[in-house]
Amino acid sequence: MNILITGGAGYIGSHVAKQLLETSKHNITILDNLSTGSAKTLDTLKSIRAFKFVQIDLNAFDTVCEVLKENNIDTIIHFAASIVVPESVENPLKYYMNNTVNTTNLIRCAVANDVKRFIFSSTAAVYGEPVNLSETGIDESYETSPINPYGMSKLMSERVIQDTALAYKDFKYVIFRYFNVAGADINYIDGKLTPRIGQSFPNATHLIKIASECAVGKREKMAIFGDDFNTPDGTGVRDYLHVDDLADAHIKAIDYLVEDDSDIFNAGYGKGYSVKEVIETMKNVTCKEFQVDMAPRRAGDPATLISDNCKIKSKMNWTPKYEDLALICESAYAWEESV
Ligand code: UD1
Repeated sequence: MNILITGGAGYIGSHVAKQLLETSKHNITILDNLSTGSAKTLDTLKSIRAFKFVQIDLNAFDTVCEVLKENNIDTIIHFAASIVVPESVENPLKYYMNNTVNTTNLIRCAVANDVKRFIFSSTAAVYGEPVNLSETGIDESYETSPINPYGMSKLMSERVIQDTALAYKDFKYVIFRYFNVAGADINYIDGKLTPRIGQSFPNATHLIKIASECAVGKREKMAIFGDDFNTPDGTGVRDYLHVDDLADAHIKAIDYLVEDDSDIFNAGYGKGYSVKEVIETMKNVTCKEFQVDMAPRRAGDPATLISDNCKIKSKMNWTPKYEDLALICESAYAWEESV
């Protein structure tokens, strides 16, 4: 197959590119404007196997069409997006342009060039602030009701993809709704965990990234945003998923779409950890102490977000390998130490 990865120099896109370069013979083309993606990551990927790289923005309709045509692209895995929730509240138009408009542009190019398969990175943020949750977490039929422009820009993109697939029978999609993605490349050298790629995005706001920066000593301290939630220890509960397991789901989606119908899948482990548990785990696996302050709740944070992952496991035979919060923290720390 001829596969295009948008945002392939970014965090999740680069882990998918890595697995495809290592385990498949597919021809890979990466599109990235390098606004947040890393050129160094691309160099690391090049050391695995050759691929084509084009540095452009997805709003360049004609150039994107040319890339699809020249490389005879049949499958697109679309990651390129803006992803910072508070920023989306301050600058919603950036999110609707970069996420919804650019995805629409890419799909126009895809349809014009007979692309058969489209794999899209959506988010659990489309579920908004879930209430009346069952113990098994949120399944894909749960009502979508985003509470910020980021989640809405992704939900609108989902709709564009779905409507396109209804109108063009040869265009099939898999939409993944990611829960909390964390960790870095599981790669061992002489028995030591040595990630080659990881989260390079500057000013990241993610809990595990921030805790690993504290453990390494790049940050002096961190804060827990709220301990008055309706959760066992009062801090927010999330479903943390290793980025390599998520990457594997994308690889499975490519084959899935050859035979099966378009669908939406949650991507998470179906198990929640509180902010306090995550910080304790980071301290334990790294044997590092750092200061943790209490702070008020962050705007828009729901108390609990846990996925029901029955669908992805049964329909896609997805079997996660790194379902271990300690390993997620260890790999995030090892990456942070190396950069
Ligand atoms: C992340 C994703 C979002 C996805 C959601 C699904 C991004 C930018 N966000 O958001 O797309 O919809 O998972 O579950 O990819 N926290 C602290 N202190 C900190 C940082 C975080 O206490 O310094 C807490 C937060 O309040 C929250 C938890 O840790 O309770 C996780 O926060 P974070 O890692 O930022 O992810 P989400 O906001 O859940």
